[in-house]
Amino acid sequence: MGRLEGKVAIITGAGQGVGRGIALAFAKEGAGVVIAEINPETAKAVAGEIKQLGAEALAVVCDVGDEKQVKKMVTRAAKKFGPIDILVNNAQRWTGGSAYHLSSPIESLPEEWWDMAFQSGVKGTWYCCKAVFPYMKDRGGKIINFASYMGVVGLEGSVDYNSNKEAIRGFSRTAAREWGKYKISVNVICPSALTPSMIAYGMAFPDKIEEMTKEMEKIPLKRVGDPEKDIGPVAVFLACSDSDFVTGQTLMVDGGLHMF
Ligand SMILES: NC(=O)c1ccc[n+]([C@@H]2O[C@H](COP(=O)([O-])OP(=O)(O)OC[C@H]3O[C@@H](n4cnc5c(N)ncnc54)[C@H](O)[C@@H]3O)[C@@H](O)[C@H]2O)c1
Repeated sequence: MGRLEGKVAIITGAGQGVGRGIALAFAKEGAGVVIAEINPETAKAVAGEIKQLGAEALAVVCDVGDEKQVKKMVTRAAKKFGPIDILVNNAQRWTGGSAYHLSSPIESLPEEWWDMAFQSGVKGTWYCCKAVFPYMKDRGGKIINFASYMGVVGLEGSVDYNSNKEAIRGFSRTAAREWGKYKISVNVICPSALTPSMIAYGMAFPDKIEEMTKEMEKIPLKRVGDPEKDIGPVAVFLACSDSDFVTGQTLMVDGGLHMF
């Protein structure tokens, strides 16, 4: 029997990358998975992959930065599967500042980058948490939010992305305190994994590949993570009863990258 048998999980931004990896890992542990994704094609494709595994999936097109869409998405999810047990707030729109060293100093950062980072990041996380809360309030629940080593170490040139990601960590600690009495745990993963966005960035800026490779060589475990095999199991741990006494924590699932 899987560790998430009978559980219902919403995963935002699960059309590719880390979100897709977690969706597949959850499905293999028996969860019914809702792919809440802004891109209709990738949402459908991942739902198809999950169904091929013999598990249940629902693709819902949703911009997490729009509260009306979030409410509709959660209502659809509950209509198909029943109450929501697990929420993974993984979606994040890439801005100039979050792209690898395609950076801007604080003094000249375009304001729209800041707004884009916060709308799909901490605001989307807040909207999704509010929308699932009525389902979790009486039965408990597991919320997993996503931040980044870039915010933790304060990497230069990415103040929009870093500030948003650290806001998500602050939000998560407060939610862990406020909702602990309802048996809702709230934790954060800071991942490092090879995802389509990173590959696309490398292709768009080939002159940065050498710099990227040098930084990756500093990872203590000497490899980049895999969304399903490296991030997936940690998300499963935070979503299942093995972590029932863990809340308000940030897990650095990055091969030690944050230590360089
Ligand atoms: N990959 C890494 O090494 C890394 C490092 C640090 C932090 N992170 C964080 O982990 C998470 C996943 O990263 P990734 O590399 O898989 O990203 P990605 O860009 O490959 O995938 C993000 C997914 O979210 C979707 N999305 C974007 N905006 C959305 C919105 N407003 N509403 C719904 N869906 C939306 C995208 O369409 C995409 O499918 C993000 O929160 C990211 O900031 C990743």
